[in-house]
Amino acid sequence: MEERHYFAACGRGLEPAVAGELRELGAQHVEERRGGVAFHGDRRMGYLANLWLRAAIRVQEELLRAEVRDPNDLYEAVATVDWCRYIRPDQTLAVYASTRDTEELRHSGFAALRAKDAIVDVVRQEHSRRPSVDTRDPDVPLKLIVQRDKLLLYRDLSGASLHKRGWRPIQVKSPLNEATAAGLLLLSGWDRETPLCDPMCGSGTFLVEAAMLATNRAPGLHRYFAFERWDDHDARLWEQLREEARDQALFELDVPLMGADRHEGAISLAMKGAYDADVDQLISLTVIDAARWKPPTMPGFVVTNPPYGERIGRDEDLVDSWRTLGDFLKRACAGATAWVLSGNPELTRHLGLRASVRIPVKNGPIDCRWIRYEVRD
Ligand SMILES: C[S@@+](CC[C@H](N)C(=O)[O-])C[C@H]1O[C@@H](n2cnc3c(N)ncnc32)[C@H](O)[C@@H]1O
Repeated sequence: MEERHYFAACGRGLEPAVAGELRELGAQHVEERRGGVAFHGDRRMGYLANLWLRAAIRVQEELLRAEVRDPNDLYEAVATVDWCRYIRPDQTLAVYASTRDTEELRHSGFAALRAKDAIVDVVRQEHSRRPSVDTRDPDVPLKLIVQRDKLLLYRDLSGASLHKRGWRPIQVKSPLNEATAAGLLLLSGWDRETPLCDPMCGSGTFLVEAAMLATNRAPGLHRYFAFERWDDHDARLWEQLREEARDQALFELDVPLMGADRHEGAISLAMKGAYDADVDQLISLTVIDAARWKPPTMPGFVVTNPPYGERIGRDEDLVDSWRTLGDFLKRACAGATAWVLSGNPELTRHLGLRASVRIPVKNGPIDCRWIRYEVRD
């Protein structure tokens, strides 16, 4: 089968997690780049990446690589692609562009417009009709990148971001999205067997992702992908891969996954999220302040995302939360490995623990550190 070049985009810092996932899936030429991982594979590999990648936010297939200096070059280059292979006149498209370090193409909106013109002109020449634009829910979403004189054009197989697993019907304004939580878990090296807790679990994203990981559930099994609307979609192959994923899912788990939060509202959200993801039987959740919590099983692993001021918690509470977390770790988690996400270096010192590893990661727009602590026995 024809080998394709793909790019799996992810949050900064999570590239090694995505690369590890891709290698496990059997992808070829896996190469970490800034904000994503390039890989090669056939159509099946593109489908598998969408179905199984936990830490990526989209999977794209490269359609064109060219050198361009100005809008005319861009038009000419894009028009060399046989667009009739990828889009019918009755379908819709959108070109999302980002341009960097280029004088003549610095307006990304204009670059997107020229690319779109070239595409619809190619299709019109063949069919006398042209596809229309739909930026909200296009049949064929395209991503154009121009950096200096290098142009890359991808078609986006995923459509909606892969962090939308399909089980959270209303996207709660979680301070941590599913892909980031899963990526951090993968970076932590949790072995899926050590009892794990999150003492400040909020809407429970770490716990739900940990349950999905430990039960081998494919994160993309319950959602829709852009490629499902394409003419070259192989529906039989896709159904077969989904069937295999269904067969691999476990519904029982020996490892305790335990969460607590002092806010009742947060725990209700976590319960609803766990229920919708069908992992509620695998997670125990409690409304309690971490200052008083004793997890039902001694946790050997802690992953948590305490408030750091950007979105929840007022400043005067913050120091208190971090001190409480430090005390909780020393009191209830002796001998454990703890990973804490921090977006504020001022606060981490209030844990009273010495970090052994610090990994720079982005949580949305915020520069954070994913920090490992070994709690003394
Ligand atoms: C940044 S949010 C965590 C978000 C979470 N990772 C999620 O997936 O939604 C921080 C959480 O810490 C909780 N928190 C702060 N101080 C706490 C304490 N002393 N005890 C328990 N929970 C606390 C807050 O209620 C809030 O839900």
